[in-house]
Amino acid sequence: MKATIEHNPPSLDDVPEGPLGEQILRGYELTNATSEVLRGEAATVEDGQARVNALSCTSCHAGAGMDEHSSSMVGVSAVYPMYIPRSGEIVTLEERINGCMVRSMNGEKFAEDDEDLDAMVAYLTYISKDIPVGAELPWRHKNNMDNVPVPNVDDGEELYKQSCIACHAADGAGTGSNSGPALWGEESFNDGAGLARMSKMAGYVQNNMPIGQEGSLSDQEAADLAAYILSQDRPEWQGHANDWPNGGRPTDLMTKEKRDQVNDGSIDWESVLGHKE
Ligand code: HEC
Ligand code: HEC
Repeated sequence: MKATIEHNPPSLDDVPEGPLGEQILRGYELTNATSEVLRGEAATVEDGQARVNALSCTSCHAGAGMDEHSSSMVGVSAVYPMYIPRSGEIVTLEERINGCMVRSMNGEKFAEDDEDLDAMVAYLTYISKDIPVGAELPWRHKNNMDNVPVPNVDDGEELYKQSCIACHAADGAGTGSNSGPALWGEESFNDGAGLARMSKMAGYVQNNMPIGQEGSLSDQEAADLAAYILSQDRPEWQGHANDWPNGGRPTDLMTKEKRDQVNDGSIDWESVLGHKE
């Protein structure tokens, strides 16, 4: 029998003194306040074009990746490099971070030798302390709903107004990256992101939202909310054609084409959600 691996990241109070400690704390800042840090430094904003959207890594990886239930990043330095079907190749931790930069953060990749990228890796390595290389981590990939029911977008809108606008605003633009991040619109993730899939959005919302009443939504309610959120406009990912080069492309990714189908009433949810006869 394998020993159970504990989700028990070290405290930031115990970061070592000196250059390594400074690098870890810089990595924490970049993870927890990504858009503030990357937009606040003039040199990183070109032609008035922001380098990232208004989110932070914490917007989805709560507690800067240390919350066990919200796509925790504890242990990532022990599981990467690994094969990712979406990329069709072995991906390093640096490349995986860049994957969230260009999709979830709708931003630009860090260059391979960027000091900020090294700082994020140092931080993620620090919170992965004592996790053995290659370990199976029970908290990974839990924010997924296996059989998403056919949603009702109008019910999703009603529920959104009741339970979500206090933090995420009526227009989905949010109230702040770590208090209620943007769920759609120009400052949110693009439609190449993991959360743009019905299964991941419904699973994430059911497990983590609304904050304070996590786990209270039924499968149907979480699906209705996911469909409502993902039928709104968001930035378009330009790399769809290159994803899943070896097959296995999911049918539940809510691209512009599918959003238009929701809005003109022609969407076939059964085929989007992969329901069998
Ligand atoms: C809009 C939501 C969102 C944002 C913002 C976001 N991510 Fe992610 N990230 C995800 C999702 C969803 C996954 C896949 C997790 C899963 O399948 O359970 C993921 C996965 C990852 C993984 C791989 C985890 C694993 O266990 O394999 C890393 C590393 C990562 N993100 C880093 C980052 C970093 C660093 C940032 C900030 C620069 C960031 N992410 C911002 C949603 C987001
Ligand atoms: C009390 C405030 C609050 C309420 C109410 C709330 N959220 Fe959130 N939401 C947050 C915070 C804060 C985060 C950032 C992650 C975290 O801290 O868990 C977040 C993150 C998210 C994310 C991932 C980030 C992104 O930009 O996509 C989604 C999706 C989401 N919430 C959906 C919902 C839905 C749907 C509801 C209503 C059922 C809801 N939330 C209600 C505060 C709230």
